[in-house]
Amino acid sequence: MLHRFIARRLRDAIAPILPDADLSSVEVRPCRDPRHGDYQSSAVIGLAKARRLNPRQLAADLVRSLDVSEWCEPVEIAGDGFLNFRIRTEALDAVLQRAVQGEHLFFERASQPRTIVVDYSSPNVAKPMHVGHIRSTILGDCLVRTLRLLGHRVIADNHIGDWGTQFGKLLLGWKRDLDRDALERDAVGEMERLYRAINAQCDANPDTLAAAREELVRLQNGDPENLALWQDMNARSQHQFDSIYARLGIRFDTTLGESFYNPRLKAVVEELEQAGVARESEGAKVVFFEDDAELQKHPAIVQKSDGAANYATTDLATLAYRIETWNPDEIVYVTDARQQLHFRQIFAILRRWRPQARVKLAHVWFGSILGPDGKPFKTRSGDTVKLADLLDEAEERALRLVTSKNPALPETERREIARVVGLGALKYADLLPNRQSDYVFDWDKMLALTGHTAPYLQYAYTRIRSIFRKQAEDASDEAGWPGRARACFVLGQEEEVRLAKHLLTFGIVLEAVAGDYRPNYLCNYLYELAGRFTAFYECCPVLKADEPHRSSRLALCDLTAKALRQGLAVLGIETCERM
Ligand code: ARG
Repeated sequence: MLHRFIARRLRDAIAPILPDADLSSVEVRPCRDPRHGDYQSSAVIGLAKARRLNPRQLAADLVRSLDVSEWCEPVEIAGDGFLNFRIRTEALDAVLQRAVQGEHLFFERASQPRTIVVDYSSPNVAKPMHVGHIRSTILGDCLVRTLRLLGHRVIADNHIGDWGTQFGKLLLGWKRDLDRDALERDAVGEMERLYRAINAQCDANPDTLAAAREELVRLQNGDPENLALWQDMNARSQHQFDSIYARLGIRFDTTLGESFYNPRLKAVVEELEQAGVARESEGAKVVFFEDDAELQKHPAIVQKSDGAANYATTDLATLAYRIETWNPDEIVYVTDARQQLHFRQIFAILRRWRPQARVKLAHVWFGSILGPDGKPFKTRSGDTVKLADLLDEAEERALRLVTSKNPALPETERREIARVVGLGALKYADLLPNRQSDYVFDWDKMLALTGHTAPYLQYAYTRIRSIFRKQAEDASDEAGWPGRARACFVLGQEEEVRLAKHLLTFGIVLEAVAGDYRPNYLCNYLYELAGRFTAFYECCPVLKADEPHRSSRLALCDLTAKALRQGLAVLGIETCERM
């Protein structure tokens, strides 16, 4: 898009003047304040400072040789040496024109695609997926979709928690107390009940605890009966997870649980020891971080004194496997804030263990979902909220909403709209806040038709679609639509220009989402898009306008609808034609 063309010219202008400059940092961003221009670059200021030059002088020298007149009005120098660019109407028209012809939708695919593994959702076997997993699932899915849209190779990996000490208790519970009917009805619920019951007994009775340990050891030693039961537990849990993923429209490329890495753990510990990264300490194998001020206080155990590996060992084996298998440029982990230390340790260990590895590692962490009382979100009886129940309730509430607005619609249609609106509302509410802050779960707020919500954006989309329905019904409409060939843009009104210029920044926002792992940027962008569309629609008649305004405005409506739909799709949110 235009900002890229401008940035390229800017680099070309800088190169002969400052031959040693690192041009990769030269960027052009949208202007915060439209009074200054549409785009801005602060690159000159940094370059001048580093060389003790006068930034305004450098800016003036640059501008003399910088030719962006195809796209911009004369470049202005402001403040300490900011360059301000204002887009010329002809250039804006040309970009829109190409978009109408389907050549782009205001974003570009990466010229150098990267391979990126995204590790997200990752629930635990035999436990229901709860609200804690919802953020990882929804955030991770949005990052996957964004990166893919931008042309990267993405491997969506669900790192299921299918191994650990809890299986000793589960196996014992299963053997002593399994309710077959309950298992068939709600497998994960029954496994959860078994676990709780045995856990309580273990607390009260050391013999039970010993029996559970024995079951665990038998499983670890490959006892066929326990192995078969464990596989059964996995399959039943996976079945339940899959039904939730299907409802949420989420697909993984691989699902490799923690157990998959078991055969590799011994070797990992050995390698770490040989490389001098881990050493023996009180019978355990430990990595100390002497030269890291923060991690110094937090050595990482990679093998406990009883010889057992742990979560850290598994993550190291997983990391090695991913590097060997996909040779990724980047691995992204999406989990809650409590795992920050864990990933800091893992990343630091990798740097010492595989100093030549050039993979970028990112822990994308998030805060908690709170109830109205400001405490972690629970059901009325104090249990954790199950994800499946949450999805049901979202759809039910949305159905009531749709029915009250549109009682005449047939029920099947109302239900379909309610599904799209309810799930959309839930996802949007999760993606909208800064991911690192906690947010209060509030049904009424997320389902509101006005304000910062999915239903508001979905509604804005249907409003645009209804313009095209009206247009199609109008038999006297000879101009017709798609009037692609004819739609040349005449952006006379300020509101039209403002809408068009906002469309132009779609790609910048998508790249920022991918770069900072922050879908909330896109939420804000879409909200603003809907707002600018409303302002445009209030002051500019579309179907009643005369040509050439009519076609131009219809085209603008069409592009807005497409950007809205594409933007929502990246958030994992569907749209419908009417609401
Ligand atoms: N199963 C873990 C949990 O529920 C999350 C796993 C995250 N991924 C990882 N590679 N450690 O907390």
